[in-house]
Amino acid sequence: MCSQDLNFETLLNYLRQKHHFDFTNYKREGLMRRISNRMQQVSITDFSKYHDYLEADSEEFVNLFNIIENNFTYFFRDIADWDYLSNQIIPQIIASKSSKEPIRTWSAGCSSGQETYTLAMILAEVLGLEQFRQRVQIYGTDIDQEALNQARQGSYLSNHVTNVPGSLLNKYFERADDRYVFRRDLGSSIFFRRHNMIEAPPLSQIDLLLCRNTLIYFNLEAQTKVLMRFHFSLKHSGFLFLGRSEMAPNSDLFTSLNLQHRIFAKVPGGHLNPHLLVKAFKRPQYGSDKLSRLMPGQLSPFLA
Ligand SMILES: C[S@@+](CC[C@H](N)C(=O)[O-])C[C@H]1O[C@@H](n2cnc3c(N)ncnc32)[C@H](O)[C@@H]1O
Repeated sequence: MCSQDLNFETLLNYLRQKHHFDFTNYKREGLMRRISNRMQQVSITDFSKYHDYLEADSEEFVNLFNIIENNFTYFFRDIADWDYLSNQIIPQIIASKSSKEPIRTWSAGCSSGQETYTLAMILAEVLGLEQFRQRVQIYGTDIDQEALNQARQGSYLSNHVTNVPGSLLNKYFERADDRYVFRRDLGSSIFFRRHNMIEAPPLSQIDLLLCRNTLIYFNLEAQTKVLMRFHFSLKHSGFLFLGRSEMAPNSDLFTSLNLQHRIFAKVPGGHLNPHLLVKAFKRPQYGSDKLSRLMPGQLSPFLA
């Protein structure tokens, strides 16, 4: 290992011990690029010097975190995939239930909420507003408290809603000055929480789980861990909706329904080898409530 790599690993260990954030789960190449970007902004070229800088400036970790966690998102991202979900998958979920049964969905890595509200709109369109209010539960989770605060507000500038079809914009958003606010009367079905999908216990009894454009940042071990947790989360008949950039998950756990649209069904009883299973459910030794110093509020992992 060259000295630059060694300094990089030392830096990652420092972040884990001091800030309780385990970036070792992230792909090395992308992580190095992002940390280097931040170093460039503060005119530092060496990982060990940046380590010193982090130690000296207590606020620097927030800046670094915001660069590492890519929150990029928009409404109806990859619209053809949403069409498929709306026309082919959601009707199957509805048909598999009695008219009073709840429909539980989870948008994991929801960023500032655009994906979660997109899901709310398509569910409300298929079910009707009354059934939506009575039956739908949508959990939006992310590790980034700042993004979640935006999500909870559900308030977006006009240039952020350009992808929302006009009829849906009129129906689901109210104008407030220069912003569009997602209608409050549907808000009681939508719950935003901080949750680290790599470490915290997963939700359960989920019918439809969205995890889009997030797994791509994790290394293979973390991806496997998360997918095993998602397998646990889903009901026997549950569906998984990934992003375009994500690889198909292990076929022991999920079977592909439409690879192009990244829709998968849970393989009931499916499992990977027991060694991996133990690893996937082992709690970390260090604190799991990341960034608690920086982000007070709903920090505990939650179970439904
Ligand atoms: C690129 S955004 C994707 C947003 C949305 N899913 C989409 O496809 O438009 C990735 C999100 O995953 C979140 N994230 C990264 N690591 C996470 C983790 N371990 N647990 C939960 N969320 C995480 C980031 O904070 C970020 O908001």
